[in-house]
Amino acid sequence: MAKILVTGGLGFIGSHTVVELINAGHEAVIVDDLSNSSAVVLDGIESITGTRPKFYRVDLKNKAEVHQFFNNHNDLDGIIHFAAFKAVGESVAKPLEYYENNIGSLVYILQEIRDLSLNNFIFSSSCTVYGQADELPITEHSPVKPAMSPYGNTKQIGEEVIKDAINAHGFNAISLRYFNPVGAHPSAEIGESPLGVPLNLVPFVTQTAAGIRQQLSVFGNDYETRDGTNERDYIHVVDVAKAHVIAVERLLGSKNLSNYEVFNLGTGTGSTVLEVIQSFERVSGESLNYKIVDRRPGDVTAAYADTTKANAELGWKTEKTLDDAMTDAWRWEKKIRNI
Ligand code: UD1
Repeated sequence: MAKILVTGGLGFIGSHTVVELINAGHEAVIVDDLSNSSAVVLDGIESITGTRPKFYRVDLKNKAEVHQFFNNHNDLDGIIHFAAFKAVGESVAKPLEYYENNIGSLVYILQEIRDLSLNNFIFSSSCTVYGQADELPITEHSPVKPAMSPYGNTKQIGEEVIKDAINAHGFNAISLRYFNPVGAHPSAEIGESPLGVPLNLVPFVTQTAAGIRQQLSVFGNDYETRDGTNERDYIHVVDVAKAHVIAVERLLGSKNLSNYEVFNLGTGTGSTVLEVIQSFERVSGESLNYKIVDRRPGDVTAAYADTTKANAELGWKTEKTLDDAMTDAWRWEKKIRNI
């Protein structure tokens, strides 16, 4: 059993990862600033696992708070760092807030790792670092393209900061580059709860079906894909969460091949926006009100993962389908709306 810090552990991917860490027999310690989450998530984690993890409200942008937290927790076996802002459009309007939060907090945590000789760091990265890749599926060797948003840039810079810190201070880290995490826990005890109008596809779909949004806008059907709509690799959040447990256990067991590794987390299969809608309609029995509108600026045509490396080296592969993800996302939406 290892003691693992999960920053952003009350967020969407963080909370599912806490559940899988506990299921695997580890102790999870949560840090979150509640800027885009709620302490109620602890109840959901407790109902699923029977364990209520320790939670500390810490502002990771505040160096003194970070220092104090780590001084009181100098016995951590690993750190999974999710805490970050993640809205692409907002990052264009508020770049400095994104750099301060996503890079500042990362630097403060890495300084504590250095000073306390901690080890085993997992970084929440994104397929956004590849931009519109020249070749699909996207392998870990695909070039990192100039970022299309400050958000994307914080993920690229974050990976560089970690590499430089490892070179100087010699700890071990893994960056996991997620494609499109969707769905919810099958128990419907935890899920995705975006504040305000959702920017991502799946919460917009389920909120539209729940009657909270009038209509889904499909951003363009004139792309070079099989039905003209964008193609993405939608991966069930529980599969993403399990990959984090495997990654941290890989570092704990010294099974890593180098002190910095990168893995794509995807299913290996792309789905178009219309295919996502069809999957939702199939599993929910609802008919979704949507219309085709103009392209959304900044969207790439298609992105899906080559999962060979994650399958072979991590020994991880997805177990759940897009239909599973839509079933679970819908069950969660219905639960929180009392439908
Ligand atoms: C992007 C990034 C991802 C990042 C995420 C954060 C890429 C390939 N992916 O995901 O790394 O973590 O932003 O938000 O750059 N769509 C609609 N109508 C809607 C909402 C979305 O048609 O109301 C379409 C989009 O045009 C897109 C697809 O649905 O084709 C998925 O969109 P979204 O859920 O926002 O994720 P990405 O933009 O793929």
